[in-house]
Amino acid sequence: MRLFSSIVGFGLTGLLLSTQCAAKIIYAGVNSAGGEFASQNLPGAFGVDYQFIDEKAIDFFLESGANTIRVTFLLERMCPLETGLGNKFNETYFKNFQNAVNYITMRGGYAILDAHNYMRYNDPSMQPSSGSIIGNTTDPKSASTAQLASFWGELSTRFKSNPNVIFGIMNEPHDMPTELVLANDQASIDAIRKTGAPQLILVPGNGFTGAQRWLNSTCAGCKPNSEVLTAIKDPMENFAFDMHLYFDNDTSGTHNSCTLAAPSNLLPVTSWLTSNNYTAFLSEFGAGSNPTCFETLNNTLTFMEQNPQFIGWTYWAAGPLWGDYFLSVEPGVGPESNTTWPLVLEPRIKGLQPMQRCGVSSAKVDSSAEGLLRVLEGCLGLRLPG
Ligand SMILES: *[C@@H]1O[C@H](CO)[C@@H](O)[C@H](O)[C@H]1NC(C)=O
Ligand SMILES: *[C@@H]1O[C@H](CO)[C@@H](O)[C@H](O)[C@H]1NC(C)=O
Ligand SMILES: *[C@@H]1O[C@H](CO)[C@@H](O)[C@H](O)[C@H]1NC(C)=O
Ligand SMILES: *[C@@H]1O[C@H](CO)[C@@H](O)[C@H](O)[C@H]1NC(C)=O
Ligand SMILES: *[C@@H]1O[C@H](CO)[C@@H](O)[C@H](O)[C@H]1NC(C)=O
Ligand SMILES: *[C@@H]1O[C@H](CO)[C@@H](O)[C@H](O)[C@H]1NC(C)=O
Ligand SMILES: *[C@@H]1O[C@H](CO)[C@@H](O)[C@H](O)[C@H]1NC(C)=O
Repeated sequence: MRLFSSIVGFGLTGLLLSTQCAAKIIYAGVNSAGGEFASQNLPGAFGVDYQFIDEKAIDFFLESGANTIRVTFLLERMCPLETGLGNKFNETYFKNFQNAVNYITMRGGYAILDAHNYMRYNDPSMQPSSGSIIGNTTDPKSASTAQLASFWGELSTRFKSNPNVIFGIMNEPHDMPTELVLANDQASIDAIRKTGAPQLILVPGNGFTGAQRWLNSTCAGCKPNSEVLTAIKDPMENFAFDMHLYFDNDTSGTHNSCTLAAPSNLLPVTSWLTSNNYTAFLSEFGAGSNPTCFETLNNTLTFMEQNPQFIGWTYWAAGPLWGDYFLSVEPGVGPESNTTWPLVLEPRIKGLQPMQRCGVSSAKVDSSAEGLLRVLEGCLGLRLPG
């Protein structure tokens, strides 16, 4: 409820004006990584090997004005190998995940449920490369497309009455036929919509879902996302393409230096989005802590604000278990909590205020009177958990 007073203090005139001018970016915030950590240890111990959020860090980001947290989880923990990918969950792991999601959404945040599995299942020990590709019918160890659909049917059933949830089908599919990415994405969308769940779905592509090469082939014989994913159909027309973007010399997000490619790295995909009337969500981007990277990040954020094809972003990454990871913005702990966060990210988030805080997650700005009300935190606390 602490957010509430600051929003009331903003005043109705400011509310209306800001919503009208700055509402193209509907979602902004950070990843809270950790649920997939120590993936070589199954099932692993909560709080030791893995953890979803630190509640104080979530408070910090939401009070700073962010409205979106991407929460990562590991499929082999949610669906243990004993029972396989599908609708049988490890209820202990699920409960901890649900607690994290509800913590975020009850405070007027949107939570992206991110299956952090690279479109693989059964051996996450050496992510992103280990494990069988979901739906690879010539691999007897692989989980099927139908099993992935069954999983999403179950997870979306459990969250369909929480409007502040966003479904992230899969983190960074890669090195597989792009047609199989399409088939798995479509089966997941169909399963989610079959439950009646209306919320926003984020749809990933091949090639680690890289925005910078959406129009390019990313593996031998693989078709570009731009040629294949135009077949995606959502009966509720409430999806956005899920994209990632890094700025180091191999776009891996593992080096401290930036090549200053932004925003030209987004031009091809933006024209594809425009000509097909699609929107995109940048659910991962991150850069080192130095002046060139600050400029690169800032240019990227400016570009997204100026191009309505982009509806939101979550920075990589906050999270309770990172320690001194060079991209961590975890408050008070991460090396970028005193640099990238206050210098680049927080000022942009302040400029987007007030952000939507309740109402069914959607790829579209709702400029109706009801839409304006949604900027109020948790619609005045009327939202139910679960
Ligand atoms: C379910 O998760 C809990 C908590 O991590 C763990 O103790 C338990 O062994 C898991 N069960 C299975 C079948 O993986
Ligand atoms: C599918 O599985 C087969 C058998 O394990 C393997 O040879 C093939 O490389 C896999 N396909 C891809 C795209 O990795
Ligand atoms: C990626 O695809 C675009 C559009 O077809 C093309 O202009 C560009 O040269 C390609 N880039 C690479 C590195 O192949
Ligand atoms: C990328 O930069 C790192 C140092 O930041 C360097 O070690 C590496 O060789 C470079 N890779 C390429 C492909 O240029
Ligand atoms: C683009 O999509 C929006 C809804 O997503 C729709 O209202 C509009 O008519 C579409 N425009 C075109 C040119 O298809
Ligand atoms: C970011 O860009 C905006 C203009 O788009 C500018 O006003 C601001 O000073 C820049 N911030 C940084 C840290 O470069
Ligand atoms: C960030 O700054 C605060 C206040 O100066 C300090 O206490 C904290 O140790 C710093 N954290 C990091 C990770 O540098």
